[in-house]
Amino acid sequence: DRSIKIAPSILSADFADFGREIRAIEDQGADWVHVDVMDGHFVPNLTFGPPAVKAFRPHVKTFMDVHLMIAPVDPYIDAYAEAGADMITAHVEAGPHIHRTLQAIRATGKKAGVALNPGTPASAVETLLDLADMVLVMTVNPGFGGQKFIHNQVEKVKTIRNMIGDREIHIQIDGGVDPTTAPLVAAAGADVLVAGSAVFKGGSVDAPQIYGDNMHAI
Ligand code: DX5
Ligand code: ZN
Repeated sequence: DRSIKIAPSILSADFADFGREIRAIEDQGADWVHVDVMDGHFVPNLTFGPPAVKAFRPHVKTFMDVHLMIAPVDPYIDAYAEAGADMITAHVEAGPHIHRTLQAIRATGKKAGVALNPGTPASAVETLLDLADMVLVMTVNPGFGGQKFIHNQVEKVKTIRNMIGDREIHIQIDGGVDPTTAPLVAAAGADVLVAGSAVFKGGSVDAPQIYGDNMHAI
């Protein structure tokens, strides 16, 4: 089923009100909740860790998609699984053993995602397709919301969709997704669209219908 799913990123939500923000986007139709974990080492920003993800869990009724922008990643996989992640996505660039990392994520019983930064070619996932439930294609350099979409990643999406063939593997697009860029990546074969600033802009828990309007525009 390649219907397009919207996964708002709470990186652009109110950091003082995550529970209400999560409920608001899900009430407005979010398919997944995208949780951006940053360690201030793999990326030049720091967000939250396992205790925060554990606190988010009871508020998430749909699917908690945890994007680990951390290195090393292996020592923390169990903590994010126990915190309640439904999907755990690791970056190929986070260490030398991405194949083993995906095996470790699968061993927790969670869905396994593999993420590629803009500088990493599609070929990096060639040997991983039997271990991944999703390929995350970064369309910005990771670390911040509100950045400009990197257009040369669209070709990479097409290449990956061809590599996947008839396997049941999601392609998630992450970074700079908005009403103008979404159609480009959907046409290229993506089926899960992360959007932070495009969803949260102008809205709030007191005006949640703006979240809904923003999501439906994508
Ligand atoms: C960036 C994160 C993205 C980001 C998307 O490192 O991985 O998920 O929150 O934000 P927008 O949609 O504003 O580009
Ligand atoms: Zn992300």
